[in-house]
Amino acid sequence: MDEMDRVTVIAPVNIAVIKYWGKRDEKLILPINDSVSVTLDTSIMCAKTSVCFGPEFTENEIWLNGVKTSFSNPRLVNVLDKIKNIAATQRSVDNAVLSWKVRVCSENNFPTAAGLASSAAGYACLVTALAKLYKIKTDVSVLARIGSGSACRSVFGGFVRWHAGVNADGSDSIATQIADSTHWPEMKALILVVSDIKKHTSSTVGMMNSVNTSDLLKYRAKYTVPRRTEEISEAILKKDFAKFAELTMKDSNQFHAVCLDTYPPCVYMTDVSHKIVEIIHAYNDMCGELKVAYTFDAGPNACLYLLDKEVPTLLKLIKYLFPTSNLDFVIGLGDVDGGDCKF
Ligand code: PMV
Repeated sequence: MDEMDRVTVIAPVNIAVIKYWGKRDEKLILPINDSVSVTLDTSIMCAKTSVCFGPEFTENEIWLNGVKTSFSNPRLVNVLDKIKNIAATQRSVDNAVLSWKVRVCSENNFPTAAGLASSAAGYACLVTALAKLYKIKTDVSVLARIGSGSACRSVFGGFVRWHAGVNADGSDSIATQIADSTHWPEMKALILVVSDIKKHTSSTVGMMNSVNTSDLLKYRAKYTVPRRTEEISEAILKKDFAKFAELTMKDSNQFHAVCLDTYPPCVYMTDVSHKIVEIIHAYNDMCGELKVAYTFDAGPNACLYLLDKEVPTLLKLIKYLFPTSNLDFVIGLGDVDGGDCKF
C-alpha cells in the first residue's frame, strides 16, 4: 500500500463551559444554542485515528479501542458519504479511488462515553484524517459537526465558540476561535474520573427528550445562554478568572437542572459528583474568591478549571478527601494548549 493511502491524526478533547444541549435539526446536527469550550492538551487526553483505503478491501471496517465495530452507524456513513461527495466535486482523487472501501482504527486514551467528550475528539480526528486521505479542501469543523455536534469545537485549540446559526442548511453553524492556546497559559484543567462506566442515556437521546419535554431548556436557550456566551467570551479575552469560573459553574448547574427537568429525567451526576461541587464551593468560600470552577458533561466525571498557582493546593486537598485507593479517582492535569488537529 502507498504511504499516501494511509493517514493518522491526533485530536484533542474539548470540555464545554457553556453547554450545548438540544438540537434544532437532528440530521444536520444544528444546536438550539451557542456553546463555548476549552480545548485540552493532547498529551493527557486525546483521540488517535488512522484511516486507509485500497482496492483490495471488500467492505468498510472500523475498530474502536481495538474492538471491531459495525460501520452501519448512520453518522459514520453520513460523514464518509459527505467527504466522498466533496472529493468527487473537487476531483481531488481518481474516480476509481472513490469506489474503494476504507478502514478506520480509532483509540482514546480516556474512558469512552463516560461524559468525557470522547465522541468530540473521535469525530474531529476521523473527519480530519478522511479529509486528508481524500485530499479535499473544506471546513473540517462543519464535517466534524455532522459526526458529533461538540466535535466541531475540537478542531481548534484554545477557547472555542460554536455558533448555533439560524440558517436551515447549517451553513452558519460553525465553530470559531475566541482566543488561541497561547492566550491564557496559566489556565489548567484537572480531570477527576469518578466513574468510567458508559452513561445510561446517550447525549443524543437525552437531548431529544429535553427538547421535547423541558420548559427550562426553552428558557435557557432563549434567555440564559445568549447572555452567558457574550459574558464568558469577554471574561476569556480579559483573563477574568472569577467571572469565567462563576459562569462555568452556573452553566454546568443549569445544564444538569435541564436534565432533571427532562421527562423521563436524565441523571448524569452521582453522589461523588455532588460532593465535588460542595468541596469546590467550600474551597472558594475559604479563599474569599473564586479560585476553581467545576463543570460536568453528560456523565459523573468532573473537569475543574483553575490557574496554575492553585494546582498544588487543590491536588493535595482532592487526594486527601478522596484517597485513590477508595474512590478510583484518576487525576490528570492538562495544559490548555491543545492546538489544532495534528497530523
Ligand atoms: O456532541 P455530543 O452529542 O457528544 O454532545 C455533547 C454535549 C455535552 O458534552 C453535554 C455539552 C457540550 O457542549 O459538550
